[in-house]
Amino acid sequence: MLVSGNGSNLQSIIDHCEAGKVNAAIVCVISNRVDAYALERARKHRIPAFHLDHRSFPDRSSFDTAVLSLVNEHAAQLIALAGFNRILSNVLLDAFPAAILNIHPALLPSFPGSHAQRDALEYGVKIAGCTVHFVDSGTDTGPIIAQAAVPVFSGDNEETLSRRILCEEHKIYPRVLQLYAEGRIRLDGRKVLISQETECSADFLENPRF
Ligand code: GAR
Repeated sequence: MLVSGNGSNLQSIIDHCEAGKVNAAIVCVISNRVDAYALERARKHRIPAFHLDHRSFPDRSSFDTAVLSLVNEHAAQLIALAGFNRILSNVLLDAFPAAILNIHPALLPSFPGSHAQRDALEYGVKIAGCTVHFVDSGTDTGPIIAQAAVPVFSGDNEETLSRRILCEEHKIYPRVLQLYAEGRIRLDGRKVLISQETECSADFLENPRF
């Protein structure tokens, strides 16, 4: 997994793996920031954790080459980004076609980029959420695998909304990883097809409610 910060998504995935709810193992965690709490979380669970400082590489592709060699050394089959604040170059994209996932704190294609929750609040949307998607060469533009919605309340600020969204992130990312492990995710152009999908039309969200 590639991380840059607190690592609460990493923690959720670790917990789901340990509980047998995600049939996968995290083989290594790489952070571009030395102070990322995610590194500590990984080490507590005896997962090999590495810091690679992007500033000590001349360009994006040489940093990605170093990431790729660590990833390959640990025989990873999938790369999961969770709060990783770097754009990937073709070095990683070409080495892992349709095998790099990201979680984004907005209902894409609305509000890509690094201030998704703030942008959603400023725009005034009534429903926000999060998205797990395949990574392509754009910023948060890859095929969408799963989304979860949350209401936005009048009294919300960036922190309260982020917290509400994060709770959903912690549910959908492990679910997507389990789908991936079960081989149930297929790409058809930019559409993602999930085999044996359950259709439940009662599961919708309206906001505001009166
Ligand atoms: C999460 O909200 C994730 O969606 C977001 O950073 C946070 C990381 O939290 N990612 C992005 O904004 C990527 N554009 P975490 O470190 O506690 O998992």
